Amino acid sequence: DVMKEVFDIRQMEIELQQKLDLAEVHIVPGNSDEFSWVKKEMGRTCIALMKKKLFAKGNTIAVTGGTTIAAVAEMMIPDVDLKEALFVPARGGLGEQVENQANTICATMARKAMGSYRLLHVPDQLSKDAYESLINEPSVKQILELIRSANVVIHGIGEAQTMAERRNSSQEVLEKLENANATAEAFGYYFDQSGDIIHKVLTIGLQLEDLKGIPHIIAVAGGASKANAIKAYMKYGTNQVLVTDEGAAKAILKKT
Ligand code: G3H
Repeated sequence: DVMKEVFDIRQMEIELQQKLDLAEVHIVPGNSDEFSWVKKEMGRTCIALMKKKLFAKGNTIAVTGGTTIAAVAEMMIPDVDLKEALFVPARGGLGEQVENQANTICATMARKAMGSYRLLHVPDQLSKDAYESLINEPSVKQILELIRSANVVIHGIGEAQTMAERRNSSQEVLEKLENANATAEAFGYYFDQSGDIIHKVLTIGLQLEDLKGIPHIIAVAGGASKANAIKAYMKYGTNQVLVTDEGAAKAILKKT
C-alpha cells in the first residue's frame, strides 16, 4: 500500500527529527546497504534541498568526499541557480581513493551543475611543519577563506572503523580509534558514541568549529550499517538537516 508507506515514512521523519534534535529530516525509501539506487535517491533529495537553501546571489557550496556525496554529484543536473554557485571541497586529502575525494566530487558536481569550482591541492599525509607552511601560502589562504565563507555545506557521515580502514590509516590510529570506541566519522574527524571528538586527520580546510558560522548544513548518510554513526555524530549537534534512508531510520528508531 503506497499511501501507507508514504505515511510511515513521514511519521519516521518526525520521530527521527525529534530523537536526533534536528531542524529537518528527509527519508528516502529503501536501504542503501542493499541497493545502490537508494544512495542516488538520497542524492536527488539533497540537491532539491540544497537549491532551497541558496541565497539570491554569491553562493559557495562546500562538499566532502565519500561514496554518498559522490552519488549527490552523480545526480546533479544543470540548474539556473547553481550555475552561479561556486563549489569548493570542504577539506584537503584524507587518504581516500580519487573517486571518493572531496576535490573530485566538487569538480564533478560543479561541472554537472554548470557552476564553477576551486580545488584544494594538499597532500594527504601532512607533517606538522608542512601543514604550518601550507596554511601560510597566499594561494592556499585565499581558497581557505572561500571555504570558510561557504553558506551551504554538504557532507557524508561514515562508520568509524570502515572509514579508518578505507583510508589505510596507520596501526597506531586504528588502535587509538578502537580504544576510544570510535563510532562515527565526518569531515575527517572521528567521534565516540557520545559525539565527542576522539581523533582528527591533519589536513587544511573546514574545521568542525567553522560549522557554527555556516547557515545551511546538510548531512547525507544512509544504510542500516550507519545507524550508530549517524546517532553519534548528531550528538555533536551542529547539523540542521539530515537526508537519510529507511534502512538507517528504522535501525535508529529500532523499528527492525
Ligand atoms: O567522507 C566519507 C564519509 O564520511 C562517508 O563515506 O559516503 O562512502 O559512506 P561514504
